[in-house]
Amino acid sequence: MSVDESAASQSEADRIDRLPAHIGIIMDGNGRWATSRGLPRLIGHREGYKTLRSVLLHANDLGIQYLTVYAFSAENWRRPEDEVDGLMQLITQAAIDELRVMHLNNVRVRVAGRLDELPHSLRNALIKGVETTAQNTGITFTLAINYGGRAEIVDAVRRIMREGTNPDEVTEETISRCLYNPDIPEPDLLIRTAGELRLSNFLLWQGAYAELYVVQKPWPEFTPEDLEAACQEYARRVRKFGAVAPRSASP
Ligand code: IPE
Ligand code: IPE
Ligand code: MG
Repeated sequence: MSVDESAASQSEADRIDRLPAHIGIIMDGNGRWATSRGLPRLIGHREGYKTLRSVLLHANDLGIQYLTVYAFSAENWRRPEDEVDGLMQLITQAAIDELRVMHLNNVRVRVAGRLDELPHSLRNALIKGVETTAQNTGITFTLAINYGGRAEIVDAVRRIMREGTNPDEVTEETISRCLYNPDIPEPDLLIRTAGELRLSNFLLWQGAYAELYVVQKPWPEFTPEDLEAACQEYARRVRKFGAVAPRSASP
């Protein structure tokens, strides 16, 4: 990014007065984007990857601290074998190719999901990404892969039981501490592209009080400006966490 562009995105960030610290994105609609153009679904996934690259770098420039994206759900294995294989290859290649750019941009990479069920080459590329960027201080980018919110809670419960915790001592904090990335704060804003009004098993525990934002356009068409629009909308929301809104806030 040029100095001018960087200055422009900084001034955009200034205009968004209450930035979400953590944004989660359900990157949906790659398949529909492709099929509506008579293209194979995998082309849609490839376009979605390009979108992710630009949205991540823009989020970093805006000063978003955490971005978590849903790349492959624990339920996506139900798709046809060629689509699953193609996705695994695409994500593996992306993890290898993008590491340098991530590192240069001070991005800290994390992963969420059952990594042990992924192809070895992909798992290794992801682990290398996490290790190489561990000390970076820019945006924390978490790739949710083979991720399911229910599976994550099951894994947490297994750990708690294995540790022999007294049931009466189990609290919400106990469970939060045993999730995949306990040091990452809960998402403030969850964006879903392609119009579906559901969570599809994404960040079930952490997203309890996230603000939801759905756009109709499919993920390959999502732009950095759309990310800013989501942040602007977030800044207008009144978060109550079960309490009563402060007097200064609108309803
Ligand atoms: C999201 O796009 C990407 C993954 C789930 C891997 P989809 O592939 O779900 O696209 P649609 O919903 O079929 O259009
Ligand atoms: C959620 O999208 C998973 C990802 C975006 C990776 P899906 O396309 O799998 O969700 P459903 O099947 O429409 O609920
Ligand atoms: Mg979908």
